[in-house]
Formats: sequence, C-alpha cells, structure tokens
Amino acid sequence: MSNVWEDLHKDYSGKDWLNKPSLFAEEVIQYFPAHGTVVDLGAGQGQDSVYFADKGYEVISSDRELSIIQQADERARTFFEEKDEPMKAMRFQLIDLSKLIPMDDDRISVVYAHLSLHYFDKSTTEQLFSEIYRILKPGGTLAFLVNSTSDPEYGTGEKIEDDVFFVEGKTKRYFNVESAKAFAHQFETILCDEEGKTYKDIDKGVHNLIRYVGKKA
Ligand SMILES: C[S@@+](CC[C@H](N)C(=O)[O-])C[C@H]1O[C@@H](n2cnc3c(N)ncnc32)[C@H](O)[C@@H]1O
Repeated sequence: MSNVWEDLHKDYSGKDWLNKPSLFAEEVIQYFPAHGTVVDLGAGQGQDSVYFADKGYEVISSDRELSIIQQADERARTFFEEKDEPMKAMRFQLIDLSKLIPMDDDRISVVYAHLSLHYFDKSTTEQLFSEIYRILKPGGTLAFLVNSTSDPEYGTGEKIEDDVFFVEGKTKRYFNVESAKAFAHQFETILCDEEGKTYKDIDKGVHNLIRYVGKKA
C-alpha cells in the first residue's frame, strides 16, 4: 500500500542527485573515525549509504518502509556491479525512528541521518536522541542534517507544538542551533550551524538547514 513516504520516493526516482552523495555526506565524512560501522537512519534510497560503503565503512542502511529499503538495496547492487566490484559490507534494516532502536548498546561507530530526524514530537525526539547515544560506541560520531526555523516554509501548515507543524501530509519539526544542541545535549558538539544545503531544495531557497556533528564522550 502506498503512503506519503513511498509517494515521495516515487517523485525522487530518476533525479540526478540520487546518483551521488549528498553535500552533507561529503562535508561530514571528515569527522568520522577511520573505520567502523555507519548506521544511516531514514536512509531513503540510500545514496549516502552507498557513498560510505564505497569509502570502506560497514554500513547499515535503514528506513521504516520496506519498499524504500528495497530500492536502496537495488541502488547499492547496481552501483557496485557497474564498478565491477563485489557488493561492499552493506546491510539493510527496517528501523522505525519513533520506536526504540533494535540495536545493542555501544556498538556503532557513526550514526548518520540526512533529513530524517525532524518528523517527531518533543518526547519522541528526546527518546530518539537518547537511543542514538545508547547505540554509539564511546568516541562515536553523530552527524545529522535537519529542517531549520529559517526555512521559507517554517510556520506554514497546522501547528502541533512549538516548532512542529503538519505540512504536506507530514509532521515536520524545525530546529535552530540552540534546539539542535539541546536535543543532542549528551554529545560533545563539534559542528552546529545553519549552513546546510541539499541539491534537492536549494532551488526552493532552502540554504540554511541545521548541520550537526558531535561525539559521544
Ligand atoms: C526526506 S527523506 C530523506 C531520505 C534520505 N536520507 C535522503 O536524504 O535522500 C526522509 C526519510 O525518512 C524516512 N522516515 C520517515 N519517518 C520515519 C520513521 N518513523 N522511521 C524511520 N524512517 C522514517 C522516510 O521513509 C524517508 O525515506
């Protein structure tokens, strides 16, 4: 059965930007440990998951939707076939970010989330950040990009709670530097600014997404 996320990914299919890593992935890989396991949360069609696998990381590419995970799997297979290389260490896993993350404590080197942590109310978002902290190894890296209160669409749609609106069939949270740091308060912040850009939204005047990189002490 189709849903808002499957419809969105149908719209994305065939876009040039799906065939290359996001700007954010290329910007933040410098902060990752040299080796280890990257979990890509809400990975969608997995273009960034493939990029990290190609750079030598073990990657768990995850999303809530099975059909979307299957597209990410297909994309990864095609990418490595075209390079005539064996499929790198990639796994695909269904993970619903509104629930507890089904992973052990202190196991993951990097948690990466490109435009996927901003769909939840305050208590769910707090639980999500605490789950991310729990699964990361000490010294592990969290990198995420989220909607900003400076986005042109901020304030449109039905208000659900502070900085959360129902827009185009989705609940969307908008962060600023302070709220990103507050949700990530367990982490040592390395980078937190409003300089995030995506190929997808730059033409809509969105050029100040919230970028965050931090470490679990
Ligand atoms: C804007 S897309 C971003 C996809 C990908 N990271 C990218 O940048 O192309 C948001 C993604 O979050 C996923 N998502 C939405 N709600 C989710 C949830 N509760 N748990 C896990 N993933 C979710 C959607 O299925 C979708 O793939």
